[in-house]
Amino acid sequence: MSDKVILKYDGKELELAVSTGSMDEKAIDVSSLRGATGLITMDPGYKNTGACESKITFLDGEEGKLSYRGYPIEQLAEKSSFVEVMYLLIKGHLPTQPELDKFVADINEHNYVSEDLIKILDAFPSSAHPMGVLASLTSALSAFNPKCVNVNSEEDLYRAAVTLLGKFPVLASWCQRKTKGLPVNYSNDQLGYVENFYQLLFKKPGQELAMNPVVVDALDKLFILHADHEQNCSTSTVRLVGSSHAGLFASISSGISALWGPLHGGANQAVIEMLEAIKNDGGDVQKWIDKAKDKNDPFRLMGFGHRVYKNFDPRARIIKVACDNILEQLGIDDPILEIAKGLEKAALEDEYFVERKLYPNVDFYSGIIYKALDIPTEMFTVMFAVGRLPGWIAQWKEMRETNQPIGRPRQLYTGEPDRDYVPVENR
Ligand code: SDX
Repeated sequence: MSDKVILKYDGKELELAVSTGSMDEKAIDVSSLRGATGLITMDPGYKNTGACESKITFLDGEEGKLSYRGYPIEQLAEKSSFVEVMYLLIKGHLPTQPELDKFVADINEHNYVSEDLIKILDAFPSSAHPMGVLASLTSALSAFNPKCVNVNSEEDLYRAAVTLLGKFPVLASWCQRKTKGLPVNYSNDQLGYVENFYQLLFKKPGQELAMNPVVVDALDKLFILHADHEQNCSTSTVRLVGSSHAGLFASISSGISALWGPLHGGANQAVIEMLEAIKNDGGDVQKWIDKAKDKNDPFRLMGFGHRVYKNFDPRARIIKVACDNILEQLGIDDPILEIAKGLEKAALEDEYFVERKLYPNVDFYSGIIYKALDIPTEMFTVMFAVGRLPGWIAQWKEMRETNQPIGRPRQLYTGEPDRDYVPVENR
């Protein structure tokens, strides 16, 4: 295949190089375009535009494949652990046992949060959406950890990463405790990362919390599946904000806000609300499929469709199986699981969805598991953020290490041409 394209415009020709990725993807380098022709490219939503080269995550939307640092998600979900995947994403290789032990110890060194942050938490009404609280508390970490703001050395960056990995589950748990009107919990170094997060969320004052291995394993698997997803909306936000050399906590806080949107990570909350609405409406899935197809109706089938996957989202396949297993092991018979399966079957047989290659995505079944684990619905996207944190950190680190220039897209101006000011008495 050619390693260049020729652009012909206005009687001139411009040769543009074509780069090839390690999985044989091709990209036209347009960095010389405006200087040579005065032209810019337009690509709303960046559907055809690559923002960077990256060695972290690869996904093949046509084949429905996803891998972290070359390891298929199916193998990682089955054989790895969330902490090991954190290390893999951030460091680039699977850790030896001593490397993993030190990584865990470094994270545990930071798994407490300044009591002054509780004053910020207390200032929020209990009705505040947890994602707004989490974004605020994460940004506030900058004030309590100044050494983690201006990171330039590998050592500084590592310290900022393990500081955030240690404190984030504590802040995330506070969001749930606030919603439920419960006192906050503190980390327990004797527990693994996910077990510690589980006790932060659920341990009641004066009571020991029995660790259900089924629940811990389900959360560990869900976090692995959410850990990174190349240049999605929230990750691109983290990279863009970080490209101005804003600190890691400020960049991650912006990613949390981007993830909150119902078209992105907020979809897991919207899926459950949709399934509950269908159940309360009598369970007629075809009626809701027809609503989703109606161009005059803004309703979309939440948890369906994806910018990149035009085949099954491999994470949805894994989560669907895990969903069945967990509900069976916990002895939960949740009618909305049957509604979800009926909705999926009907949609996958409907020409509208087939033609547009709309399949269940990562958010379609994850909420059913969170609901089974007694996680409040408005906390679902916080759970997504806990899983996505190592990916955001790894991508931010790569952006800084590769000296990406500050992100500053161009535009096509379509407003008023030049005109003179008109004094108010003449308007
Ligand atoms: C995540 O990017 C990532 O990697 C994200 C993520 C990650 O891990 O970071 O995978 C996580 O955000 C998953 C997506 C969660 N969002 C939802 O489930 C919300 C519902 N889905 C859609 O809104 C939509 O599918 C998007 C936002 C996910 C993708 O939208 P695109 O790529 O911009 O596609 P589009 O809006 O241009 O839709 C193309 C067509 C349109 O119809 P036509 O104009 O061609 O007639 O498909 C239709 C859309 O109306 N369509 C849907 C639909 N999704 C797309 N119609 C009904 N229901 C839907 N869910």
